[in-house]
Amino acid sequence: MYSELVMEHFRNPRNMGVIEDADGVGEVGNPQCGDMMRLTIKVKDDILEDIKFQTLGCGAAVATSSMVTEMAKGKRLDEALEISNRAVAEALGGLPPAKMHCSNLAADGLQAAIKDYRSRQAAK
Ligand code: FES
Repeated sequence: MYSELVMEHFRNPRNMGVIEDADGVGEVGNPQCGDMMRLTIKVKDDILEDIKFQTLGCGAAVATSSMVTEMAKGKRLDEALEISNRAVAEALGGLPPAKMHCSNLAADGLQAAIKDYRSRQAAK
């Protein structure tokens, strides 16, 4: 039911953890199940230099969190903002229909972290 890539990211998640001196933090919850994701980013010259996630959720949520960090790392902020939840699920070879809602955390968390970074910059 899960693609091999989903299982691989679930067993061996990339960029898991937290950046202590993060430039932006995104925290999102999935209203359908209560699962949560926290994403921390480090930004330099408008580029996502580093990105880490912590996800309290199901396997699909962990796999999509892992994948979104890989897709976003090294991208310009505007490019990273264009990553959609659907694109993350597609990059994993798709998710079972009943688990599509689990991919909502990934790009939403990234967008929240970038928004937080930008509002911190604006406040400076
Ligand atoms: Fe909650 Fe998957 S069941 S994110």
